[in-house]
Amino acid sequence: MKQIFVKNLLQGEVSVGETVLVKGWVRTKRGNKNVAFIAINDGSIIHSIQVVADLVNFDEELIKRISTGACLAVTGELVASMGQGQSVEIQAKDIHIYGEADPETFPLQKKGHTLEFLREIAHLRPRTNTFGAVFRIRHEMAYALHTFYHERGFFYLHTPIITASDAEGAGQMFQVTTMDLNNVPKVEGEVDYNADFFGKSAHLTVSGQLEGELGAMALSKIYTFGPTFRAENSNTPRHLAEFWMNEPEMAFYEIQDNMDLAEEFLKYLVKWALEHCMDDLQFLNDLYDKELIDRLKSVIDVKFERLTYTEAIDILQKSGQKFEFKVDWGVDLQSEHERYLVEKHFKKPVILTDYPKDIKAFYMKVNDDGKTVRAMDVLFPRIGEIIGGSQREERLDVLKKRMEDMGIPEKEMWWYLDTRRFGTAPHAGFGLGFERFLLFVTGMSNIRDVIPFPRTPMNAEF
Ligand code: 4AD
Ligand code: MG
Repeated sequence: MKQIFVKNLLQGEVSVGETVLVKGWVRTKRGNKNVAFIAINDGSIIHSIQVVADLVNFDEELIKRISTGACLAVTGELVASMGQGQSVEIQAKDIHIYGEADPETFPLQKKGHTLEFLREIAHLRPRTNTFGAVFRIRHEMAYALHTFYHERGFFYLHTPIITASDAEGAGQMFQVTTMDLNNVPKVEGEVDYNADFFGKSAHLTVSGQLEGELGAMALSKIYTFGPTFRAENSNTPRHLAEFWMNEPEMAFYEIQDNMDLAEEFLKYLVKWALEHCMDDLQFLNDLYDKELIDRLKSVIDVKFERLTYTEAIDILQKSGQKFEFKVDWGVDLQSEHERYLVEKHFKKPVILTDYPKDIKAFYMKVNDDGKTVRAMDVLFPRIGEIIGGSQREERLDVLKKRMEDMGIPEKEMWWYLDTRRFGTAPHAGFGLGFERFLLFVTGMSNIRDVIPFPRTPMNAEF
């Protein structure tokens, strides 16, 4: 007999009276001398299906072995439910136990564990309602992301994870090597990278952008979506050492086009979540964040506020707020500043542009004032920066000067500079921190809770 998933059952794809086979994990078991009620969840949907087992029909020993966490296959008749909270249930005819879960040692025996505790058992937490909901939403958002770009003629370009260029990430990159760290080959006291796997020092990528630009200079519109790695030692609820980034890069786009795309994209994803993930959102809304659904709806209807960094500094200085970090023109904004602008001042998402060139990357297009660059950061409620992007410097001489000023060796970047040498074009792009975005969509407050296996300083167990 073919297995049916709980989602399909609850969506009415099978009629009452039919015999069905469900497989899944026991969420709860209760009952009395005559009957056992077993809630089974297979992860296809947040809801469980109730299995009713009349004890006269089953071996007592078998029923005893069933407890929270056990895995079962149940065959039975789909019947209208008399109980509250579900429309149908299964009257069990046959129960097979794939695997028991000893109540003495199974860590998810009870409900209501803290998120901190669940992080310590990341190998089992997908079995909770909360993480089931989060990971289903994560999937839907990845699918929506691909759909959005595909519908608009973008090509998914796979950029490398191992890179020999460290222009963007100097100082916060993980090194990749096959050298024996106990016996590193050296020449005149210096590490001899000629003896390493790639014949030069290599790292995990901090961004696919530079390679993405190469793609955009041929295919016009590309995007990347993959893991990126940053060894910054920031133990905050918004930083991971391994996170997923989505980076579109478009030839012939200027900063305005870039902002328009980012805004349309974010609204598309949020709308998708509201249309496709309502069960899971409702669950998270009720349990963690009573304003979640309203907040999501509010974003799709408003025009994001757009202003320059200089204007933002002015607002912050006049705000009368006490910030931990002082605000002066030229400083990098902290998330307290970003959140003030978004949550208190404008009360909607904000796109900041034209940052001082000294706090931004070498590849951003220099404005005519010579002081600012055509950067854009999208700031979201509860999160702060969710997207960072820019129009790129397409003028070879200006770019070379910037690299020189910032100490980026030209000879290692010859391939990047070739795009400016041969058929250069205005172009722009941005990077969305996928987990930052998921924090917004799920209402979770710690970034460790929106990725299945978080990597943070001193933490890579699972
Ligand atoms: O602002 P960032 O550093 O931009 C870039 O890497 C550009 N190359 C993007 C581009 O223009 N193609 O990073 C982009 C986004 C941030 O806005 C933030 O959402 C996220 O990536 N991010 C992180 N997310 C989780 N953990 C971290 N340690 C992150 N660092 C950045
Ligand atoms: Mg940034």
